[in-house]
Amino acid sequence: MYFYLFILPLLLGTNGAEESPEENSILDDTELFLIKAMSTEGMKEAFGESSVRNAVEYDSEAGDYAGLSKVSHKNVQFVMYTRENTDMDNGTEIYIGLKDHLLTYGYNPSAPTKIICHGFNSDYKNGPGGQLVPAYFNATPSTQPINIISINWASMAGLHKEIPPEKPIIPNGQAHRQWYDIFYFPPARNTEIVGNLTGALVQFLVQNMGANVKDFHLIGHSLGAHVMGYTGRFVQEKLGMSVARITGLDPAGPCFESYRFACFRGTFIPINRTNADFVDIIHTNAGRFGMTRPVGHVDFYPNNGHHQPGCPGWWRPTSRAICAHTRSVKLMKDSILFPKFAFRSLECPTWAEFSDGVCKRDKRFVAVMGEDCSPKTRGIYFLKTGDRDPFNVGVSTI
Ligand SMILES: *[C@@H]1O[C@H](CO)[C@@H](O)[C@H](O)[C@H]1NC(C)=O
Ligand SMILES: *[C@@H]1O[C@H](CO)[C@@H](O)[C@H](O)[C@H]1NC(C)=O
Ligand SMILES: *[C@@H]1O[C@H](CO)[C@@H](O)[C@H](O)[C@H]1NC(C)=O
Repeated sequence: MYFYLFILPLLLGTNGAEESPEENSILDDTELFLIKAMSTEGMKEAFGESSVRNAVEYDSEAGDYAGLSKVSHKNVQFVMYTRENTDMDNGTEIYIGLKDHLLTYGYNPSAPTKIICHGFNSDYKNGPGGQLVPAYFNATPSTQPINIISINWASMAGLHKEIPPEKPIIPNGQAHRQWYDIFYFPPARNTEIVGNLTGALVQFLVQNMGANVKDFHLIGHSLGAHVMGYTGRFVQEKLGMSVARITGLDPAGPCFESYRFACFRGTFIPINRTNADFVDIIHTNAGRFGMTRPVGHVDFYPNNGHHQPGCPGWWRPTSRAICAHTRSVKLMKDSILFPKFAFRSLECPTWAEFSDGVCKRDKRFVAVMGEDCSPKTRGIYFLKTGDRDPFNVGVSTI
């Protein structure tokens, strides 16, 4: 019963006729699937232990990260890109514990490392990875080494599209998948184990490969933001140190802030400012797919953080929400690609006061949203963006 309430918002506004395929292709399938699944007897299964049977092959005991036999690479893959290997379709799967493999494929322990994590119903390539990996390589001088790791937890994140078998980018890419994996609730619960496993990767890179924990910047979208929160906590517990930065791109609201009644047997601790030295959050669909309340050292609310310009109107609520929710990734991408057109933002208690020009446009109250955000920034910030990509170009600045 609760479940119906929970997915009701997802089912509203399903007449997806003229969206761009980018925004809508995944959702239409999802919605159809949910509608079909609602009429099946097996629905209860979605809430049972079985729904995460593929999630728990990883044993989280201390020190276990090196016990490769217990770590499942079937369900969580770490796909690495380096300066020598920037092609999105040609990532290298790396493994906790395999030092030589990492070095052979160009991992540089003294370079900064970006770890990117997708959310519900996505994967390492079609989620934020597909936008941010090329952006980082594009914006980083070619002489400057950088490691980028895009996490693939598609099989635990509700993705029902198979990775095409003719392109075995990832050796064990054909993950085990059940129909009930599509539901939001098991993926929401899986964030903890995926976050821990990623934490174990960071622990390995620091302890066994000489990486500096302060060279890590974790970036997660939606449920991926909470994955990165769990990673930050895991690293703190195992290393007694925090990663330098976590960027949360519209951290998922359902289970972590809203609809909590529909989510159980998980910890659902939202990403928060204690998880890294610096936690910056960009809210673009607050109150629907994203969280409303500020959880970072700094929280940016572009265009007030609920809806985004250029997205479908209120009569298309689902497309409107998906568009706004994924906007956070595009804003991050634009901040990397067009740093000159910085997303200048103003510290202000509310959007109304911001719009009315009440808040002082003093240097002390101006911050830059996205990649170039100063780690000293604190507070709640508002800004306006454009309605098309690039969203920071040609917009009146603060
Ligand atoms: C694919 O990546 C490997 C390194 O992981 C590199 O040696 C190779 O040149 C890349 N191939 C293409 C087509 O980019
Ligand atoms: C994740 O790691 C934390 C810290 O080690 C641990 O307390 C927790 O039980 C782990 N959770 C899972 C699902 O493995
Ligand atoms: C922030 O995360 C820590 C774990 O790292 C947790 O103990 C704490 O309760 C969280 N705070 C909030 C406000 O959620």
